[in-house]
Parts: sequence; structure tokens; C-alpha cells
Amino acid sequence: MAGQIPQRFIDDLLARVDVVEVVGERVKLKKAGRNHSGLCPFHQEKSPSFTVSADKQFYHCFGCGAHGNALRFVMEYDKLRFPEAVEQLAARLGLEVPREGADDPRAQARERKRKEGVNLLELSASFFRERLKMPEGQGARGYLERRGLSPEVQQAFGIGYAPDGWETLKRHLGERGIAEAVQVEYGLLVHREDSGRTYDRFRDRVMFPIRDIRGRTIAFGGRVLGDAKPKYLNSPETPVFHKGRELYGLFEARQAESRLERLVIVEGYMDVVALAQFGIRNAVATLGTATTEEHLSRLFRLVGEVVFCFDGDRAGRQAATRALQTVLPQMIDGRQARFLFLPEGEDPDTLVRREGPGAFQDRITCASPLSEFLFEQAAEGRDLERIEERERYASQVLAAIGRLPEGVLKSLLLTELSRRTGVDQSSFEALMAKEENGAAAVPSEVPVAPAETPEVASSGRQAGGGAALGLMARALQLLVHDPGLVERLPESDDWCNQDDPDAGLCREVVRLLKAGRYRSAQVLLAHFHGMPEGERLAALARRELLIPARARATELEGLVAYFQRHRQRPSRQEEIDALLAKQGSGERLSGEERQRLMALLAEVGK
Ligand code: UTP
Ligand code: MN
Repeated sequence: MAGQIPQRFIDDLLARVDVVEVVGERVKLKKAGRNHSGLCPFHQEKSPSFTVSADKQFYHCFGCGAHGNALRFVMEYDKLRFPEAVEQLAARLGLEVPREGADDPRAQARERKRKEGVNLLELSASFFRERLKMPEGQGARGYLERRGLSPEVQQAFGIGYAPDGWETLKRHLGERGIAEAVQVEYGLLVHREDSGRTYDRFRDRVMFPIRDIRGRTIAFGGRVLGDAKPKYLNSPETPVFHKGRELYGLFEARQAESRLERLVIVEGYMDVVALAQFGIRNAVATLGTATTEEHLSRLFRLVGEVVFCFDGDRAGRQAATRALQTVLPQMIDGRQARFLFLPEGEDPDTLVRREGPGAFQDRITCASPLSEFLFEQAAEGRDLERIEERERYASQVLAAIGRLPEGVLKSLLLTELSRRTGVDQSSFEALMAKEENGAAAVPSEVPVAPAETPEVASSGRQAGGGAALGLMARALQLLVHDPGLVERLPESDDWCNQDDPDAGLCREVVRLLKAGRYRSAQVLLAHFHGMPEGERLAALARRELLIPARARATELEGLVAYFQRHRQRPSRQEEIDALLAKQGSGERLSGEERQRLMALLAEVGK
């Protein structure tokens, strides 16, 4: 156990953090007089009864009575224990949390070791940076230039060069009194058992320092300048470095933007650095491993939304499946996870250079929400017209839902699953309860009803998106998510003539998609960039689309048919009104007109 945190440190911490800022990062707040108010995150409510006071530095909910200071908020909201909450608030201010009491010499020794290691790694990082500037670094400088890395971004990420020699770093550190054994322990030297010799681990490589959340170098990744193998060499596990916990670029992302809302997880060092160079400063990379729960819980402590970015190939799909499984248990309410697939053969580095940061940002905006990916994935390769396949589909989705923590997302997904399979939600709930009690497995027990037919009337049940969408907005949303659907629309756009705030935009989008060679959401968003319409489209793109890919065309056609009927009705009514008015004014109706009126009245009467 680490020692106690001194009370004066906690007092000092509370005096320095701003509760409005801490709460505001997690809850949407509006200024209301001297206070801020918003929807209480601790209970379900529709109108705000949650107040945060900057003067008094506390929050209070009139609805459920939740109250406290910034520390209490972080504990409750992020579900942290007290020392973790202190750590988190301290980290915001770049403070180290002191511990009292010499009660545990082991903990103290650990801390001493940590300091020693960090010093040594910091020394090495500056050594590599120095060497990059010297004549021997010429090749590496050329390489970085060819990869298109600006001097600014090289500096921001502290990139350096490990010279081509067996003992350059070893000598450098040795001259500063650092024992070889320590250098070995921190992964800088390799120790050969057979000869007993030690030599530099990193030779003739571009060096990326890996920093912890406070910016202290804890490890390195080194890339060869050419095609030699291995392409990247990483520090081994050391007392301060654990691959499954650390993320490359997290410190730099936090430096660039203190109010991060979203982090994008990419695969490689170069991806993080290239994106940053193009102004996308919220990317982080795992270090040649799959994303772990530990990575995710770290990220979710900092931001509400994580976007996984994968290559478009099979390996990427597999990685996404794994990521989905890892993230499910972490999806407490208020968190979002989304999945972005890049075109085959591209990675973020190549893509952002080719299509520019705006287009890449739009890809991030359009990434599939977790729910959509989950349903899509379960449907993949299955013929859902067949009952057995639908049953397996339901079981797979149900298994995933079972991994979710209790909350709004879980119940929304259950509702959605039942809508899609036609099975009563209560049967699913019963099955899940049974599952938890260790009873029979889910498959073969899910009773499956006939295929669902998407219907216009059941509108707007959408996960994570707030109020239900209008019908025109739903058509628009379908088109943004799946622009190829424009093929399914009738030639005339008169169905867009609706009394609906989204009608004009919808017509414009249809026109663009019909005219354009590029039927992609990115291009659409780019077209409206900076306009209110762009915001509207981006908002629709971000919203969950809980309709499986195969049902979307039918859904859109259903909507359009509805609009066409709907459009006719007022005109029919107008016609009736006109005829009646004519009759009422004493004018005689012709035989034809009388017949027409009767037909119209009969139609309306149906
Ligand atoms: P990639 O092979 O996709 O490399 O590895 P990259 O990031 O696109 O690199 P460039 O563009 O060729 O320079 C992705 C990540 O996998 C880990 C590294 O963390 C790398 O950034 N990796 C890859 C290794 O650890 N060792 C390797 O040999 C290769
Ligand atoms: Mn690459």
C-alpha cells in the first residue's frame, strides 16, 4: 500500500481545480446567473435540476440530492476510489501526489526506482535528440523529411536518432555514472547471456520517446531508416513501462488540447505524428498490441468518446471485433465508442496526406457507433431471412449486450434487438437473467418471429441520440450514412416538398448525390463545411443508425412512399375545398366535377 495522501495536499488541490470545469467536461452545462446548470448525470431527468456553483465550488442536484465538491464528483461520475480521484485531479494540474508515512519501505523503494528510471530515460531521450541534429543524424533527418514530418511536429514529439554504433548510448550514460545493470533493466542495453556482453538496443533508428501522462519518458520505439526487420523495435517491459497500459501520443494530445472530448485510437507511431502534423491532435496508438481494457479505462477517464480506427482489410475487421469485445464492459452511460474503417491499403498517415485533414476529420465524424457496428457484425455473412440464422444473429447480439454494464445503452439495444427480430424484449431479458445464473446457453432458446418489416410509423427509436428524429431527418440520416441509397429514389424529387425544416437540405443532398461522381458522406460533409447545413448533417452522421445495412433501402423507400402519399393528401383536400367552395357560391358544378367531388370524398372517407 502506498502511504496516506496528506490533507494539505488535498486542500491545495481543491483550491486549485475548478469544479465547473471538472463537471463541465462530463456534463453539458449552461450558465444560469452566477451558477451553471444542466441535466443531472446521476439520475434520469428531462429538465435540468443540477446546479454547479463556481463560488462555492460544489454541485447539487435538486432532483436526486447528489452533491459534493470536485473530488466527490470525479469519484461518483468516473467511479473511482478516493486516491484515484485525487490522482486524476492532480494530473490535470500536472501535480504529483505526495504520500505520507514511512510505513512501507517497499513502496518507497519502488518510487525511488521510478525516479531513477525516468531520469535515465530522460537523459537518453535528450541524447537521441542531440544526435539527430549532429552530422551522424543526416540520414535520419533525410528520412524524416522524406516521410514529410515537419520540424515542429518532430519537436513536439521529441523525435531523435539512435546512432549506428554498439556502445554510443552506453558510453554516454556510463560517463554520467549510470550503472550498466540499470541501463539493462530499463531496456536501453541488451545483455547477452552467452558472452556476458552488453550493447545498445537501439542502433541506427529514428527514435520516438513514449511518454507517460505527465510527459515523462518511460520507453522508446525505434524505426529503421530502410526496409530492415524488425521495422519497429520497442522497449521491453520495464519497471516503468507496460505495453498493455501505455498509449503513444496521449501526453502530446493532452498538451495540444486541454479539453479533449474524443480520442482516436490508431495503430502506429507514424499515424499519430502525421495526424498531429495536420492538426488532428487527438490520436493515440497502442504499442504493437491489441487495445486492452486498461487502455480503454484510461482513455475513458479523460474523454467521453473513443473512436477506433482500423485498416479496411480482414486483419482490421478482426482487430475491430476484438476491440468491440474489450470495450463492451466499459460502456457505462455517457460514454461513446465508434468504429472507423479506412479504405484498403491506407493507414491514417497515408490517408491524411492524400485527402487532407478535413476529409479525415469527416471520416472520424462518420464513424459507425458501437450499436451499429454490433448489429452489422452479427448480421455479417448471415441470411437473416432464415430462422436459424436469425436465431444465431440474436444470440450473438445478446451475448454482446450481456457484456454491457446496466444502463440506457443496454436497454436501448435490447429494445432494438427485439424490434429487429420480432421477439419480445422480456424473453431476452429472461434469457439474460438465466445466463447470468449460469443456466443453459442462449442459443437455440431464442424464439424468433417472422422477419421484421421496417415501417415508417415506428419512427425515431434511436440510441444515444436524444429526441426522436423527424421523418425527413430520418431520410436524410439514411442518405448520410449510406449515400449509395440515392439510387433507390424516384427520379422526381417532389417527395421532398414537405413542410419540414429538413426538407430543403434533403432536396439539396439528393441533388448533389445524384449529380456527383462521389457518393460519400465525407464529400457531402465537405460540401457543406462551415455552414449550418454542415452541422446538421454532421449531427445526423454522428447519430446512431440502428437499421441494418440490408434494411436501409426498404426503410428509405417506405419513407419516400409515405411522403408521396402525404404530399397528395393536402392537394386532394385542396381540390375538394375548391369544388365545395364553387358549389357553395351558387355556381353549378359540371357533371364531371360532381363525379370528381364524389370520388374524392369517397377516397377521403376510406
Ligand atoms: P505498421 O507496420 O502498420 O507500421 O505497424 P506503420 O505505423 O504504418 O509504420 P510506417 O508507416 O511503416 O513507418 C503499426 C505499429 O505496430 C508496431 C508499431 O507500434 C507500429 O507503429 N510494430 C510494427 C512493431 O512494434 N514492430 C514492427 O516490426 C512493426
Ligand atoms: Mn504507415
